[in-house]
Order: sequence, then C-alpha cells, then structure tokens
Amino acid sequence: MAALSDTHAPRLVELRHVEADDLNYLLEEETATWRETLDWDFQASAALVRRFVDMHALSGFSLVMNGRPIGYSYFVCEDHKGLLGDLYVLKEFASPENESRLLNSVLDAMLKTPLVKRIESQLMMLRNAARIQLPHWRYLHVFNRDFMEASLAGVEDLPSGPAVRKIAIDSWMEFRQDEAASLIATAYQGHVDSQINDQYRSSAGARRFLMNIVQYPGCGSFFQPASYVALDVLTGRLCGMCLSSMVSPEVGHITQICVSKAVRGKGVGYELLKRAMQSLARHSCRKASLTVTSSNTEAIQAYERVGFKKVRNFGAYVWEGF
Ligand SMILES: CC(C)(COP(=O)(O)OP(=O)(O)OC[C@H]1O[C@@H](n2cnc3c(N)ncnc32)[C@H](O)[C@@H]1OP(=O)(O)O)[C@@H](O)C(=O)NCCC(=O)NCCS
Repeated sequence: MAALSDTHAPRLVELRHVEADDLNYLLEEETATWRETLDWDFQASAALVRRFVDMHALSGFSLVMNGRPIGYSYFVCEDHKGLLGDLYVLKEFASPENESRLLNSVLDAMLKTPLVKRIESQLMMLRNAARIQLPHWRYLHVFNRDFMEASLAGVEDLPSGPAVRKIAIDSWMEFRQDEAASLIATAYQGHVDSQINDQYRSSAGARRFLMNIVQYPGCGSFFQPASYVALDVLTGRLCGMCLSSMVSPEVGHITQICVSKAVRGKGVGYELLKRAMQSLARHSCRKASLTVTSSNTEAIQAYERVGFKKVRNFGAYVWEGF
C-alpha cells in the first residue's frame, strides 16, 4: 500500500490510494457479518468494491491503523445525487469515533462535489447510529427502516385472496420495464419512500431504479422466476408488480412491490407476494427477506399477513438543502 506509515491512531486514506488486496481482510469480515446478521451473501458486492478499488476508481476513504485498513466507506455521484454506498468498520474497531470519522469524511467529500444537491444512504452495517452525531444534521432527514424475514415453509398452503378473479398474474418480462417504471412513479406519488429514494418520483428515475436492481448485486441477484406482474383482466394494463432477488443460495429477497392506487386494498399485493414466495420456495429457498419503512403500516400489514416478522432495524438518511 502506498505511503502508509505505522501509527496507533487510525488515519484516513483515500480509497484511490489503497490497493484492493489490502482490503481483503476487511471485505471478508464484512461478508461474514452480512451472512451472520442478515443471511445475505455479500460476495458479489465485495467483488465489485474490490474491482473498482483495483482500478483506483472508487471514491471514498479507508481508516488505516498500523498500515492496515480497519474500515472503509465509499460513494458514487450521479448528476445531482450522491449515494453513500457502504460503510463498514471491523468489529474490533467499530467505535462511534471510527464510524463517525468515516461518515464525516465521505459526507464532506460529497458536499464538495459540484452539482450534488442531495445525498442518500441506507447503512445496514452502521453499528453506532444512535450514539454518533450524524454529520451535517441541519440538512439531514432520518427514516427508520425495518428488515423483515419470513419462513417459506408452508407457503404452498396460503389460500387464494379476494383479487384472484379480477387480476391475472404473469411472469416479469423485460419488455414490461417501461410500463413498470410508470407504475412505480404513480404508485409512490406522495409516499414516504419517494422521500428516501428520489428515483421513485419519475418514470425516468424508476427506469434507472429497475435497471439497477436487475443488473447490479446491491439488492442481491435479480431472480426472474419469482418476479411477477399483476394485470387488470378487463384492460390488460399493469396494476401491480413484485420483484425478487436471491441474496444467498437459500434466501430470496423482495426488492420491490407496488400496486396501483386504483386497485389497492383488494388483495392484489397479497396475490403477488404469495406467488413470489411460493416460487422462491420451489427454487429451494427456506426464507425470504425484505426491507420496509417503519411508518409504512399498509405494507407492513400486507407482509405480516404472509408471515413476515421484523428482525432488525436500520436508518435511511437523506441530506438535502445544503
Ligand atoms: C403495500 C401494497 C403493495 C399492498 O398492496 P394491496 O394490494 O393494497 O394490499 P393487499 O391487497 O394485500 O391487502 C389489502 C387488503 O386486501 C385484503 N386481503 C388481502 N389478502 C387477503 C386474504 N388472503 N384474505 C382476505 N382478505 C385479504 C385485506 O382486506 C387487506 O386489507 P387489510 O389490510 O385492511 O386487512 C400497496 O399498498 C402499495 O402499492 N403501496 C405503495 C407502495 C409500497 O408501499 N410498497 C411497499 C414498499 S416496501
């Protein structure tokens, strides 16, 4: 690693000056932590981090002690938006001070990036969120989020819901991407999740969101056989969707579910969830997981109806107006 002298106090080094191999231990521990706490295989995400660090193309910082990285955080800026991708500190060194230093440094760097007007982040592995002064708090909005899980044993026996005769459930197909993007933009109008992720506010943004979950491993690897759309049988139009991914060989994840406002409360969400969970079970999954904003009681009720339970909470952060 370039120019790292031994010292007992951790110091910040730009990720662009770090060699990918030096992050191996950190990424291995992070991968084990994701497996232990969320049953999530983080290897593909770790490989992506390693690849970009190897190209010296990832913006962010590593916290280095005695020549060895003990934590890192990276960010990506796209047009007006900065996305704080991840922050992880080795268990042994996961003090509020160390997490806070990394968080402050990536935030400061993003705030200095021309054109960035908004910063979003969901930090699943931040251990001391409640104990640190989150940086630039005047511009910060915090949203509590839940991580929920459901056993897939017995999902084959879930009964048919009330919507079964009024809608047709079809497999997700790539050609539906544009219609699905429009559905997301209208379904999330005025919704708390569009405050957390501004891609939900327009069809163009939702198209980028869909492309990301289909192509990149951030939310697991997209799993078409457990991804469905709901079609209104009279008009043939898309009125709901439920997309899934695999986050480990035996665990599926619901990455997106929404139903058009016109047909909400009629069991469409239930039917989509049921089909996705049954398909995951048939593909050897023992468990499904998802994340939901804690104030989204409508969705939480729908999830609890099919067996999901909250197992963990974490924060979604948005900095705006700076
Ligand atoms: C969350 C969301 C997808 C739920 O979809 P939905 O189609 O409205 O929900 P459901 O049809 O499953 O449930 C609504 C009603 O259907 C009925 N129902 C569902 N399954 C049933 C069953 N098996 N038997 C009898 N009734 C049933 C219930 O009456 C239920 O009402 P209740 O909550 O008062 O009990 C929808 O509200 C939505 O799109 N919200 C905005 C986007 C969003 O928040 N997505 C989740 C992000 S994490």
